[in-house]
Amino acid sequence: MALLNPFSLYISISFFFFFSFSFSNAKDSSFSSPTTSSDVQLLLLKIKPLLQSNSDNLVLSSWNTSTPLCQWRGLKWVFTNASILSCTDLSSPQWTNLSLHNDPSLNLLSLQLPSANLSGSLPREIGEFPMLQSLYLNINSLKGTIPLELGYSTSLSDIDLSYNLFIGVLPPSIWNLCESDRLLSLKLHGNSLTGSVSEPALPNSTCKDLQFLDLGSNKFSGDFPEFVTKFGALKQLDLGDNMFVSTIPQSLAELRLEKLNLSHNNFSGVLPFFGESKFGVDAFEGNNPGLCGQPLKSCGGNNSSLSSGAVAGIVISLMTGAVVLASLLIGYMQNKKRKGSGESEDELNDDDDLDEEIDEENGGSGSAVGGPGEGKLMIFSGGENLTLEDVLNATGQVMEKTCYGTAYKAKLADGSTIALRLLREDSCKDRNSCLPVIRQLGKIRHENLIPLRAFYQGKRGEKLLIYDYLPLRSLHDLLHEIKAGKPVLNWARRHKIALGIARGLAYLHTGLDFPITHANVRSKNVLVDDFFVARLTDFGLDKLMIPSVADEMVALAKTDGYKAPELKEMKKCNSRTDVYAFGILLLEILIGKKPGKNGRSGEFVDLPSMVKLAVLEETTMDVFDVELLKGIRSPMEDGLVQALKLAMGCCAPMASVRPSMEEVVRQLEENRPRNRSALYSPTETRSGSITPF
Ligand SMILES: *[C@@H]1O[C@H](CO)[C@@H](O)[C@H](O)[C@H]1NC(C)=O
Ligand SMILES: *[C@@H]1O[C@H](CO)[C@@H](O)[C@H](O)[C@H]1NC(C)=O
Ligand SMILES: *[C@@H]1O[C@H](CO)[C@@H](O)[C@H](O)[C@H]1NC(C)=O
Ligand SMILES: *[C@@H]1O[C@H](CO)[C@@H](O)[C@H](O)[C@H]1NC(C)=O
Ligand SMILES: *[C@@H]1O[C@H](CO)[C@@H](O)[C@H](O)[C@H]1NC(C)=O
Ligand SMILES: *[C@@H]1O[C@H](CO)[C@@H](O)[C@H](O)[C@H]1NC(C)=O
Ligand SMILES: *[C@@H]1O[C@H](CO)[C@@H](O)[C@H](O)[C@H]1NC(C)=O
Repeated sequence: MALLNPFSLYISISFFFFFSFSFSNAKDSSFSSPTTSSDVQLLLLKIKPLLQSNSDNLVLSSWNTSTPLCQWRGLKWVFTNASILSCTDLSSPQWTNLSLHNDPSLNLLSLQLPSANLSGSLPREIGEFPMLQSLYLNINSLKGTIPLELGYSTSLSDIDLSYNLFIGVLPPSIWNLCESDRLLSLKLHGNSLTGSVSEPALPNSTCKDLQFLDLGSNKFSGDFPEFVTKFGALKQLDLGDNMFVSTIPQSLAELRLEKLNLSHNNFSGVLPFFGESKFGVDAFEGNNPGLCGQPLKSCGGNNSSLSSGAVAGIVISLMTGAVVLASLLIGYMQNKKRKGSGESEDELNDDDDLDEEIDEENGGSGSAVGGPGEGKLMIFSGGENLTLEDVLNATGQVMEKTCYGTAYKAKLADGSTIALRLLREDSCKDRNSCLPVIRQLGKIRHENLIPLRAFYQGKRGEKLLIYDYLPLRSLHDLLHEIKAGKPVLNWARRHKIALGIARGLAYLHTGLDFPITHANVRSKNVLVDDFFVARLTDFGLDKLMIPSVADEMVALAKTDGYKAPELKEMKKCNSRTDVYAFGILLLEILIGKKPGKNGRSGEFVDLPSMVKLAVLEETTMDVFDVELLKGIRSPMEDGLVQALKLAMGCCAPMASVRPSMEEVVRQLEENRPRNRSALYSPTETRSGSITPF
């Protein structure tokens, strides 16, 4: 009886895990008691002594065990359960509680000691506080370099180290903080940092929450750090008073900057056009006399005619942007009119985003393709440059055929490439139920999801979904294909892939006004880039299918081993069946074996059963892919065991006990591999080795 209960099975599995791992880790002494590694201890033993050059700093002397924790200066604390330790009420017992510093569930949340007469250095252990969000040590006399380990911090979002005496380079690991989408503000104004500004490990990093970047009044040299022009959320950028020598990239004008300071460097060339009198002369003064363009002197003379041409080009393209916008509006109005006149061929759910739709009448331009009649192209954000003609004239090459359609890689006349999915004839439901779903799909934008840019419907009902084409390998190929030149998939990389997938799914399930089920989670539908960012394709298509095709999709999921057991009785996928499929996928990532029917032998590989068996036989370590175990010292501390348990939880036979994708994301974030520096570069080593770059 008990064995039939999935819960007790799960619990017994966890028990065995613990059992088997405590055996295999008998030599690993890192299972130390939690109190010795608490934030309070770290603060007293490693941070306090180094922040001061001699031990008489008034502010830091308050950090001692004979003083109640609430009275330690410049600190805020948070319990592991995320509730903040309130120290504002002087009459509360917490204010005088002398045993709070022994509470292992307390974590440092912020360290703020501006103008505190600190004269030591920044200890590298500052990166080890798991929940530290803000670090303000501005206006002190801290010396030495900014430690590489700062970039390994898991929660830091606000850093202000301005007006100290820091020297050396900006550690490249600092951009790792962008990875968790937390870095909001980085201020290093008024130090003596040198060298060129290190680039992020991911070349196209968007550091998407970073709003304030202040590197002003240092000794940075080299070119303008062009990568910051991809930081889309940036509001304030200060590179003033350094020694940069280069031109200023035109793409800087694409950021929505509110404050900018590039003064007192050696920038030259033509300034990007930021808009009429957006920034004053003081933002650009004190550079190479050759620097020109608004608001500085205009770029006259023969040698810069090309550049003024470029500026004109920008203006013209801005104008054509306006023209496109106008024609979109005209299309919208016409559409409305036709509807008003009763000739309503399309029963679209008229909501306010109809203006995204372009009606292209076939005015002779399409005749080259044999007159497809009245085709319709629905454009979504980022697909604005696509025209009906482009799409119809694209030359395609088949990438994949599935039960619901064929995917093509298609070249446009202008040389760019898109991915097209031609839905199988009759596979799609009628127009009325299709269009609202398509419109929802077209709105989805997330780093881990491939965006739908446009949708085309031909007169005869042919339906094309138009996506970005990314020349990337699928996770399936990465895991199972034997090919030379494949990257090593260590645990840090696999963890990053898994987390990316989980975030994408969580966004579909809970991040949208209309929750979407992926319904086709499998390793073939995950694309992985050179930096192990995962992107999901083919989501939400089940809603477009007539039932018989949707059933075929489910049947395929079964052959491939991703089908949740309850899909026997009910045919409709939901978020819980996505979680199940994700569980199988996570097992696939951990074990490195392909689930489902094996092409060659025809045998069915049941990954969850494999794990259960291994646990019972106490050979759990053997189920992990060998490649994944490289460099792992403690599978427990590196989050490997937790990931395996999590995967098994997702594959629970009973849908109601599976975690939500949000919970999955949380657990994966909590149990990260320790050596995440591998994400920066395989050769980067930890600590101590801040060799001259
Ligand atoms: C501990 O902190 C209190 C309050 O700030 C201070 O008066 C006392 O001198 C400190 N003791 C030591 C040993 O630093
Ligand atoms: C979190 O934990 C602390 C101490 O362990 C407790 O005082 C507090 O009430 C808890 N808060 C919540 C929301 O559970
Ligand atoms: C003091 O803090 C400890 C550890 O958090 C807690 O167990 C204890 O109940 C607190 N005492 C008072 C009087 O609040
Ligand atoms: C600052 O620290 C130095 C020692 O590092 C000390 O001599 C000086 O008195 C301190 N100044 C203030 C204002 O606390
Ligand atoms: C980064 O962006 C450039 C230009 O937009 C592109 O050519 C390159 O392939 C991108 N790299 C990655 C890894 O996405
Ligand atoms: C730009 O930076 C310089 C040097 O740091 C400073 O003197 C100037 O006031 C700043 N200008 C603006 C507009 O922030
Ligand atoms: C500025 O850069 C130019 C080369 O572009 C160089 O000749 C000049 O010496 C530099 N000026 C300063 C003050 O560094």
